[in-house]
Amino acid sequence: DDALSRALDAFAAGEPILVHDFDDREGETDVVYPAGAVAPVDVARLRNDAGGLVCVALSHEVADAVDLPFLDSVIDHPTAADHDLAYDDRSSFSLPVNHRDTFTGITDEDRSLTITELSEAAERALAGDYDVDDFAAEFRSPGHVHLLRGAPNLLSDRQGHTELGLALAAEASLPAAVVVCEMLDDETGAALSPDAARDYARRNDLVYVEGAAVVDRLV
Ligand code: 5RP
Ligand code: CA
Ligand code: ZN
Repeated sequence: DDALSRALDAFAAGEPILVHDFDDREGETDVVYPAGAVAPVDVARLRNDAGGLVCVALSHEVADAVDLPFLDSVIDHPTAADHDLAYDDRSSFSLPVNHRDTFTGITDEDRSLTITELSEAAERALAGDYDVDDFAAEFRSPGHVHLLRGAPNLLSDRQGHTELGLALAAEASLPAAVVVCEMLDDETGAALSPDAARDYARRNDLVYVEGAAVVDRLV
């Protein structure tokens, strides 16, 4: 069957998938995990094999339930006054957090704990019995896991990895908490090329999907 169905099956089984956005956007391939499935060994894969920033995308509904702002709206400094991103209208960054049971927050074990607890927080927030005070009792900011806020109508509003990952999670009936991390090229430091990302997928028995295929099926 097709790559998108295989991606959804793998994702639902807690495996990472590789998602390339669009050549005319970032032109990046992110490793994407359901947040609830991220063990310490998976954080090690993200920093060793992907190499980008480890982020957790939360849906608009979850972010609203626990009052998570866009980062630019709470940074009181002129650097946040103007974004002028070359590839999109705005970034999806919210606060960086650590679970309060972490020590430094950066180790594989610490980040895995923060990430899996974020998945549980997302489920509870959607169930309606978890608010900003519950979230603040569990997480502190600043921290070492970057939160991202999904657009309200996901891919109809914005087509970043934030929304691509959250749309895949929704389709796979998973919590609205998804880890994304850019794949970088160890030789050049640039974004890993789609060919090299497909090669990594083959070698590691993972599914690679194009953002266009996700949009085709899920919008
Ligand atoms: C955070 C990012 C990444 O590009 C990530 O994929 C989320 O952003 P976007 O939704 O804009 O693709 O900038 O490291
Ligand atoms: Ca980016
Ligand atoms: Zn991205």
